[in-house]
Amino acid sequence: MVKICCIGAGYVGGPTMAVIALKCPEIEVVVVDIAVPRINAWNSDQLPIYEPGLDDVVKQCRGKNLFFSTDVEKHVSEADIVFVSVNTPTKTQGLGAGKAADLTYWESAARMIADVSKSDKIVVEKSTVPVKTAEAIERILTHNRKGINFNILSNPEFLAEGTAIADLFNPDRVLIGGRETPEGQKAIQALKAVYAHWVPEDRILCTNLWSAELSKLAANAFLAQRISSVNAMSALCEATGADVSQVSHSIGTDSRIGPKFLNASVGFGGSCFQKDILNLVYICECNGLPEVANYWKQVIKVNDYQKTRFVNRVVSSMFNTVSGKKIAILGFAFKKDTGDTRETPAIDVCKGLLGDKAKLSIYDPQVTEEQIMRDLSMKKFDWDHPAHLQPSSPTTSNKQQQVSVVFDAYEAIKDAHGICVLTEWDEFKALDYQKVYENMQKPAFIFDGRNVVDAKKLREIGFIVYSIGKPL
Ligand code: NAD
Ligand code: UGA
Repeated sequence: MVKICCIGAGYVGGPTMAVIALKCPEIEVVVVDIAVPRINAWNSDQLPIYEPGLDDVVKQCRGKNLFFSTDVEKHVSEADIVFVSVNTPTKTQGLGAGKAADLTYWESAARMIADVSKSDKIVVEKSTVPVKTAEAIERILTHNRKGINFNILSNPEFLAEGTAIADLFNPDRVLIGGRETPEGQKAIQALKAVYAHWVPEDRILCTNLWSAELSKLAANAFLAQRISSVNAMSALCEATGADVSQVSHSIGTDSRIGPKFLNASVGFGGSCFQKDILNLVYICECNGLPEVANYWKQVIKVNDYQKTRFVNRVVSSMFNTVSGKKIAILGFAFKKDTGDTRETPAIDVCKGLLGDKAKLSIYDPQVTEEQIMRDLSMKKFDWDHPAHLQPSSPTTSNKQQQVSVVFDAYEAIKDAHGICVLTEWDEFKALDYQKVYENMQKPAFIFDGRNVVDAKKLREIGFIVYSIGKPL
């Protein structure tokens, strides 16, 4: 029986391993983590992450061939294939701070693998890492002098949150990079055999290590670039009377462009786009390629511009001040169908409005009050560094006076001067907007950061509606 161990029971490690366990009943899969509460949650009825379809997959195989454990060393030492799916956030201090990937967690996982291994292993980079990381990891692993062979593979993950299970069941491709040596090729075949249980062979792409590592950064950069491109167009649409949805549709019907990922928004969020592009920028700079670095940096700049533009539009249209005014924030997660708030545009928008002394009433169906308060108190880039998880206290009390988190959209909206829709949750489309209007201060403003409400209908009710990239 092949044994797989995955280090890191997060948004990637958990769902990915659950699907491998489901599709490969003869393989034992153990997901390990140093975070005890996270592992306890994986072993409970309340999984640590919200992901449609995940509960069902976990229920089918947990306790059979899928296990969650904090006994990291034991399970790593017993495994044939070790996936490393730990967090690789942006560095907050030292060389490359604010750009480079922080590989502390990766390095400590690699050192531990080297220390506890007693048999040959395939070590799989599942985390997103800078190109050439495998070389450094190899050096750490081969430092172990027990004559054990380690073969490193790069197998980046392309799932998106909210659709993780569907993406894992039916991936556009699985990418496996390895050394171009006979041992490297054998390792590739071993991992390919795992995915071949359910992924058609022509969708399993095999490359060299560096192409696989770089392809992951490139894919995220290209995806984010599309959003920044359409968001840049949205600003021009607002200035000219063009409608960004019509522009997106028109260009998306060109098969060379394609229709996906052209939704203008308040800005992209999520744990990876920004950090991976910053990482790419840093690698370009380190390789003496400033023009390439500046090209990709612009994707982040446009995203920041879009969030600032949204806040400025709210303040300027509400008579140049939101001081003391109640603003309802509908949605805090970085996209629908997830409770994840990492790098959500809602953080920057809320901070911008708080800076103008607004009173915020926030509702999200999947995000807790504790999480929202923590996010609003944390410094940029600190969110994924466990040591920094404590909010800094001086600003907290002010925030608590200005922010309330409620459990119902109608509660958030009651007596508000304006509404900001920041996540495209389906329930926001289905609200009784007549009732909403009656319960708001007048004039009643709505700023739709996701273009989900029916602006025409809302204007008929009496709302002043601002959509992204659409005429007023
Ligand atoms: P996460 O923070 O949800 O999970 C990482 C887990 O690793 C944490 O639970 C942490 O406790 C654990 N960990 C850290 N160091 C450890 C160690 N030494 N030993 C054991 N456990 C350790 O992160 P995530 O969202 O799952 O992302 C993981 C990686 O996958 C990142 O590199 C990310 O860029 C990449 N990725 C993420 C997504 C996504 O949608 N979230 C998609 C594709 C790729
Ligand atoms: C993204 C990629 O889509 C995944 O392929 C990748 O594996 C993952 O990052 C990662 O490496 O972490 P994710 O961040 O989970 O996945 O979600 P997306 O659906 O890509 O959305 C990212 C952000 O872009 C969200 O805030 C979303 O609202 C926004 N977005 C997306 C737009 O504003 N417009 C669009 O047209 C699409």
